[in-house]
Amino acid sequence: MPDQAQTMRVLMTQRVPEVAIERLREVVGPDGTLDINPDPDLIWTKEELIERLRGGNYNALYCLLTNRIDADVLDAAPELKIVANMAVGYNNIDVAEVTQRGIPATNTPGVLTDTTADFAWALLMSAARRVPEAERFLRAGKFHGWGPLMMVGQDVHGKTLGIIGFGRIGRAVAKRATGFDMQVLYYDRSPADEQTERELNARLVPMDELLEQSDYVSIHTDYNPETHHLIAAPELARMKSTAYLINTARGAIVHEAALVEALKSGQIAGAGLDVFENEPEVHPGLLELENAVIVPHIASASLDTRNAMAMMAAESIIAVFNGEKPPNVVNPEIYEK
Ligand code: GLV
Repeated sequence: MPDQAQTMRVLMTQRVPEVAIERLREVVGPDGTLDINPDPDLIWTKEELIERLRGGNYNALYCLLTNRIDADVLDAAPELKIVANMAVGYNNIDVAEVTQRGIPATNTPGVLTDTTADFAWALLMSAARRVPEAERFLRAGKFHGWGPLMMVGQDVHGKTLGIIGFGRIGRAVAKRATGFDMQVLYYDRSPADEQTERELNARLVPMDELLEQSDYVSIHTDYNPETHHLIAAPELARMKSTAYLINTARGAIVHEAALVEALKSGQIAGAGLDVFENEPEVHPGLLELENAVIVPHIASASLDTRNAMAMMAAESIIAVFNGEKPPNVVNPEIYEK
């Protein structure tokens, strides 16, 4: 269990927005340490992270979704009192390991909900209306005048949107669909209440029905062993040939190679992807496909939201050193012992 106030020795694995660094510096004070990976573009390998931890006797780790936090990493920092992840998804953390050691792990839910939902829509619209493809076309000097058959895409308004995972972000995506007069189908372990369903014009359906009836399928579930390859060849085969798959959740929820095949063969019409199965690698097949809109995991990347996420992780660390239970603990059971 985290105990009372003591000197903070914080390791930050990559530079985050300055507001959070300033806040931490202020609280860490002259007696403590805030060490930051000096290269903002360098993601430490697991070995590099272990080396840093070993050398620093750190008691707080401020990490990102690109850092795998497992037993080896935790062994290198026996003094650790908190692992604060600047992301809502925390599949990079071995939660069983941190829990067993009585270390709270925290994430940053809520503050990125609307920004991520906005971006799922940006991908959906871009894919449906072929925006990046049309821009490439124009920049390549191929635009010789308005054409009745040029860059024809699919309508969005009035269509059916299937949402896999109807939590905070899934619902925010559905809310935006009401402005496009869409029917929303959703798949989730638990149903939303009636009022939410009514407000969002949303209906809970089995996964097969969602896949078969949706014109757009957008993924908003977390990644865990059960959602690994949730969308693979059989699921893609159920989708309409005019349908689009949007993923702003985690790459490995989709079988990337199967998706490439489905996009190539015309089994589905297109995809909008913010996340990939083996980031930062992207399946080479995707790079060649005009009907895949692919961007480098930026759904939460607005200035306000990144500031808010960064602050939230900083406040979690500060709470622990104030002897408090931090907000957004993903393993609250450590406090129940
Ligand atoms: C980003 O992918 C996050 O989980 O915050």
